[in-house]
Amino acid sequence: MLVPAVAAARAAWLRAELERHNHAYYDLDAPTIPDAEYDQLFRELQGLEADHPDLLTVDSPTQRVGGVPLKEFPPRQHGVPMLSLNNAFATEEVEAFDKRVRDGLETIAEIDYAVEPKFDGLAISLTYENGVFTCGATRGDGVTGEEVTPNLRTLRGIPLRLKGAGWPALIEVRGEVLMFKADFAQLNARQRERGDKEFANPRNAAAGSLRQLDSKITAGRPLSFFAYGVGAGADSLAVRTHGEMMNLLATWGFPVAEERRVVAGARGLLGYFVDIGVKRPALPYDIDGVVYKVNRLDWQARLGFVSRAPRFAIAHKFPAEEALTEVLGIDVQVGRTGAITPVARLKPVFVGGVTVTNATLHNEDEVRRKDVRVGDTVIVRRAGDVIPEVVAIVADKRPTRDLFGGEPLHPAFELPKVCPECGSAVARGEDEAIARCTGGLYCPAQRKQALWHFAARRAMDIEGLGDKLVDQLVDAGLVHTPADLYGLTVDTLAGLDRMGEKSAQNLVVAIASSRQTTLGRFIFGLGIRNVGEATARDLAKHFGGLDALLAADAASLQTVPDVGPVVAASIAAFFGEAHNREVIDGLRRAGVCWPEGEPATAGPQLLAGQTLVLTGTLPTLKRDDAKAMIEAAGGKVAGSVSKKTNYVVAGEEAGSKLEKAIELGITVIDEAELLKLLEKEVQ
Ligand code: IVH
Repeated sequence: MLVPAVAAARAAWLRAELERHNHAYYDLDAPTIPDAEYDQLFRELQGLEADHPDLLTVDSPTQRVGGVPLKEFPPRQHGVPMLSLNNAFATEEVEAFDKRVRDGLETIAEIDYAVEPKFDGLAISLTYENGVFTCGATRGDGVTGEEVTPNLRTLRGIPLRLKGAGWPALIEVRGEVLMFKADFAQLNARQRERGDKEFANPRNAAAGSLRQLDSKITAGRPLSFFAYGVGAGADSLAVRTHGEMMNLLATWGFPVAEERRVVAGARGLLGYFVDIGVKRPALPYDIDGVVYKVNRLDWQARLGFVSRAPRFAIAHKFPAEEALTEVLGIDVQVGRTGAITPVARLKPVFVGGVTVTNATLHNEDEVRRKDVRVGDTVIVRRAGDVIPEVVAIVADKRPTRDLFGGEPLHPAFELPKVCPECGSAVARGEDEAIARCTGGLYCPAQRKQALWHFAARRAMDIEGLGDKLVDQLVDAGLVHTPADLYGLTVDTLAGLDRMGEKSAQNLVVAIASSRQTTLGRFIFGLGIRNVGEATARDLAKHFGGLDALLAADAASLQTVPDVGPVVAASIAAFFGEAHNREVIDGLRRAGVCWPEGEPATAGPQLLAGQTLVLTGTLPTLKRDDAKAMIEAAGGKVAGSVSKKTNYVVAGEEAGSKLEKAIELGITVIDEAELLKLLEKEVQ
């Protein structure tokens, strides 16, 4: 425990710090630190106040909820205060919550809990008098909020008059205003086009859009609403449980989360947490956890509240997706097509469930826009399986030359003029966001990646030729081009690191058998910019043989379906390079061959002109295989469902695409039915 004087000083500092962040978050809608950092400061202050009760002040940030209402909006006193929720992060904290509930109710029986997503938006309270929406307010400090009725009236999800029956003369419906991920992306694209400020995330966009003095601005913003509870008026409802209350709210016309359930005991809670965690990336809106509430309303009342939060409910939060760390350096990486990507090397930080040491900075413009420099403290984000990225810098933590806020210690980032791997010039085309190394296959970084790509399963499919091995082969000067692979012997390979005689033999066999391939795989394996697997197959089908393809000019290339001017130009440029022609000749001399003269896919094209969307996990087919089979039958596989979709093929844990299909009335089939469609094609 800290000595009292130190504890007092620390508590005062923490209070000032939390106030500053509260102001930025609630009043300015422009947070200065990630939530997790805030929570940590908050918990530290709570701990200090628990250890030294004399330090607790009535105006401590731990004693109130949210921000102070803005003066611009009329204050609105809530009928029933809008409280906060305690957080749990670990399994044990959830089990402890369940135990506290059972102890409080003096029962050993399993408790039923109503469970639902924790929406990442902003809380509001809607007052209805005799079924008519009369007033809406933000949470504010929990007791008094900001009245934003005209703005809320512009939200289509908020009924202006309640439907159905059973509502009391006065009721406060509580819920969250948020912005769907797709709407957020569109809004930011629009902001960008107009040169207006972009929003950091959907939550800030929602908050910023709702707290507008001019409701016309709010009306132009795509805001949504979900109800999750009732304030004043809850006592006069003819319902026994939270679950029933949510159903009742739905009958009155309120949007409620489809993912809501009732589960039993701590096991049920934890099972739900895992389920929602899996569904989370496919949900159309952001959530930062789930909320557990004792289902029986009389039990909720019996459990009551402690200071700012109920005893009957808890928020189980996902690991933070944003964290603060320091930029140790900025490197550039060279990709297969020479793309130069700046990457921030970071002081290791635990975020989104893993330790992150690197984060992409995308491209030169992005680094400039964010002005990321060595030594900066930055917000790093890692959501789901997405590559970690630097969201923003914390401007007031930038190291300066002196203590008085002078010149920044480190200069602005500049992209190198020459490739760090091979010394060739770095060039950036007009209208291009990406700068590239011009070294082509002379550049070892590009050569290595070209070889990985050539050997990949969907290209030449050389089993056992992984990244590490390719690195060794290139570094040892044994392989310069893909053609050199076919000259490798067991003896040469067996001399390499971590390579035994047996694996060397297997690899030589795998390389040899890759000689027999298809023209589509071969073209794809060459790694031509903008030529993916499907285009490679289309080219093979269209030209029948390699020589016809090599002879084609940009105009005749564009007669191939889906090949536009950009793709045609990449292909022509690739084959126009003498060294690429040499690689191709070398491969042919090494015996690489394919059935020439006939189209890569023969037979009737029963799925021609049809668009299919794959969603969820299919019982036997891998996604790539299903895609290849559909394309071989002339069909197209799209990434999202629209009115133009002909079939949605749904497997286990199909998410929003399935919902969309049902909504649009598109035929949904399973794997067996897909195979039937394809079988018809074979006959
Ligand atoms: S219930 C008395 N349910 O979480 C408890 N809150 O700290 C009332 N939130 O900002 C809250 N989703 O707006 C509840 N399904 C949900 C929620 C939810 C998000 C927010 C709420 C508030 C915070 C509570």
